[in-house]
Parts: sequence; structure tokens; C-alpha cells
Amino acid sequence: MAEKFKIQGGETLKGEVSVGGAKNAVLKHLAATILVNGKTKIYNVPHLTDVDIMLNVLSDLGAKYTYDKEEKSVVVDASNITSITAKYELVSKMRASFIILGALMSRCKEAIVALPGGCAIGERRVDFHIKGLEALGAKIKIENGYVHAKASKLVGADIYLDIPSVGATENLMLAAVLAEGSTRIQNAAQEPEIIDLANFLNTIGADVSGAGTSEILINGVKAENLHSAEYTTIPDRIEAGTFMAAVVATRGKAIIKNVYPAHLTFFNDKLIKMGASIKLVEPTTIEVSCKGRLSSINFVTQPYFPTDLQAIAMTLLTTANGVGIITESLYENRFMQVPDLRRMGADIHQDRNHAIVKGVKNLTGATVAASDLRAGAALVIAGLMANGQTIVEKLHHIDRGYEEFEHKLTKLGAKICRYDDSTEAKIIQEIRGSI
Ligand code: EPU
Repeated sequence: MAEKFKIQGGETLKGEVSVGGAKNAVLKHLAATILVNGKTKIYNVPHLTDVDIMLNVLSDLGAKYTYDKEEKSVVVDASNITSITAKYELVSKMRASFIILGALMSRCKEAIVALPGGCAIGERRVDFHIKGLEALGAKIKIENGYVHAKASKLVGADIYLDIPSVGATENLMLAAVLAEGSTRIQNAAQEPEIIDLANFLNTIGADVSGAGTSEILINGVKAENLHSAEYTTIPDRIEAGTFMAAVVATRGKAIIKNVYPAHLTFFNDKLIKMGASIKLVEPTTIEVSCKGRLSSINFVTQPYFPTDLQAIAMTLLTTANGVGIITESLYENRFMQVPDLRRMGADIHQDRNHAIVKGVKNLTGATVAASDLRAGAALVIAGLMANGQTIVEKLHHIDRGYEEFEHKLTKLGAKICRYDDSTEAKIIQEIRGSI
């Protein structure tokens, strides 16, 4: 069923909202649970389609899980791993499931994992993952769209990543946990989710240090050192940034709970430069507000101004005073939102990985479609800002990464509802019947 959002723009967001657990951290923790020959409990697990996919991957491997959606916790029992294959049907739905490669290599010394392929935002290769595993001693064959990795044992090594890839850093951290000796990952990714994975691994008995810097050291431990544990995933900095932007976009004022401000320093700084006010109320609670027209700014995406907030920040620039230049440093094709924002009246000129956004007075409602998760969230914010009604199609992209998005926005006073083609047909029928 094709679900859509109907948004009536122009409402000022006010009130309080709480951010859920970080999708891009929890997916990796779930994969890492298979290192433990026993049970692991993870708290702060958001209910997202990507989480469901990762749980299906685990269950296909023989792990058992229970997901308490009220408590937002998952218990994985990986005592009995019966398969080493992650199927194309699951990996192709979610690129992050490729992380299971490193986890399986640690636990079973063999893995058969479908190649994830590219996606709307870019080619998204996995060559660093493969080269890193080879450096640890794995023999790798790529056949029929699957990576088949095998090793009699993994041995620690010095690995230099040409690009500080998040996924490659994580896959290699997982693979190195039980390797013989030490592994040093140089030019490692430094995102908060990497630190959270290191913390998770240390909680189950691994020996990882340096996460959050460009050099991560993993001293291999014995399988019997790994043990059952409980862990709470960090809050989602991208969800937090999305709500902050939504409040700023509508010149609102709201309290946002369960935020780690240190994970959003660069984004906060840019919002303040645009004219927003951000106050720390408590260590994990902020108050965001904004009055008057925003001022344009320039920015380049990097770890602390994550590419995942680029489309959302672009939406803010569409009605800001002046011209803002955005440089997307990670992906070849992450300006997918541009044609739809133009349809809503934005003035954006795109030249390769640069976008020049000239602020217009207002956006106007239109029918648009989410092309990926973050572009979809950006269009929802555009709809909240616009005059009139906006329909956002292809919600399955948004459901991958935002839990109860419309409910949280409604709580803040947004006029947004979800409907599908059958409800639409019913409404039309009712209207016809009443004429
Ligand atoms: N790259 C290679 N070879 C590799 C690996 C990466 O060339 O072997 C390139 C990619 O093509 C890309 C760049 O390196 O151009 C960075 O990719 P990276 O590996 O860092 O990204 P990822 O691990 O695939 C994660 C997040 C993304 C987020 C990026 C960057 C998860 C599940 N995904 O992806 O999040 O954009 O890091 O911060 O953690 C999202 O949540 O919407 C999302 C796309």
C-alpha cells in the first residue's frame, strides 16, 4: 500500500519531543550480538524497518530474539549460530546489514554475505571492508553477487583506510575483536556511532581503544572472554537535528529531550549562525527557538556536520535571507531532494557536489516524493514551512529511520497525517456521496 503524508504548512511547532535511539548505532550493536555465545540485551532500540531487517538477518543465522517495543529493548540469544549466510533479499533492502560480515568472521571464521550494491545517494562501494579483512588473513572470493570470506584464523594487522569509512571501520572492528594479536585501524571514521560501537564491544568483553580518534586499536581477546551484557544505545543525533531544524523552520520553540549536544556541535553552531537560539536546559535536554527570517550560511558536510543532515539544512536555506553554498563531501548523488524543493518554489542551482541556494520568500505546497530517508525528512520539513498543502509520497524511505515521525511532529503542533491510497479512495467516495 502506498502511504503518503498530508501536511498543512504554516503551523508553528511548540512543546516537547523526545529523541529515540540512534539507528546507525543500534544496527551495528545488533550485528555485534552474534559475537556473544549467549544473551545480550540492548535498550533504546527504536522501532524502525531497518531494525526489523537486521533482526531478520540475525534470525536467519540462527539467533533468537525478543523485541519489547514498549520498553524499546531487544534481547538477542546467539548461543546457536546455524548459518553463515546473509541473503541478498535482506542485504539488498538495507546496506547496513553488510556489517554482519565482520561479526560472522569473528564468530565463525567464515561468512557468505550478499554484496549490498549502490543506492540512490551513490555508488557506496565496499572495497575497504574487503581489503581490511584480507589484511586480517581472510581469503575472499566474490561470486554470484556474494562475498565469501574464510580464514583458519584471523591475525591482527595495521590497516589504513583511504577514506574514513564508517561501515569499513565498524566491520573491521568487529572482525578484529577475536583476532590473534592487535589490529590498528588508521584513518578510522570518528563518528559518535563508532565510539558507541567500541563501548558496546568493551561492555561484552572486547578490548578496543582510541574510538573517536583517527586511530583505533583492537587487542584481540579469546572467545571465552566475551560475555552476556546489557547496553543502552546513544540517542539519534540525526533525529535530534531533524526536530531542531523543524522547530527552526517553523519559527517555533520546543524542548528536545534525549539529545547529546556534543554530538551536534557543528550543526548547532550553524543553526545559531542562521538565527536560531539553542539553550542547554539539562545535560541531555535542549530548548530550540527561532524568530524572524533566517540568514543564509555556507557549509561542507563532514563528521560533525553529517551528510545525513545536509538535505534538511538545505531546506532551511531555501527561505533564508541571502545565498548559501553547500558542499557535499561524501556522496556523489546526495542532492536528490533538489528537484522536489524546486517544485515547491526553491531557487537552487546545482553544480556537481555544490548546491547554491538563493533564499526565496516562501515555499508553496506541492506533491513530492521521498527519494531516500534524509531527503524524505527534508521534504516533510519543507511541507511544514510551505504555504498550503504538501503531499509527501514514498514514506517507506522515511520509516527506515524515523520512529513515529508524524506522531512526534503532531505532538509539537504540526498538521500532518498519514494515509494510503485506499483511505484516499474512501475519502473521495465520501465526498462524492455527500454531493
Ligand atoms: N566508500 C568506499 N569504499 C568502501 C566504503 C566506503 O569507496 O569500502 C565510500 C562510499 O562510497 C562513500 C564514502 O566512502 O562515498 C563514505 O561511506 P561510509 O562507508 O562512511 O558510509 P556507510 O558506512 O555506508 C554510514 C551511515 C550513513 C551515513 C554515512 C556517513 C549507517 C547504516 N549508515 O554509511 O547513514 O551517511 O555513514 O556518515 O551507519 C542514513 O542514515 O541516512 C545514512 C545514509
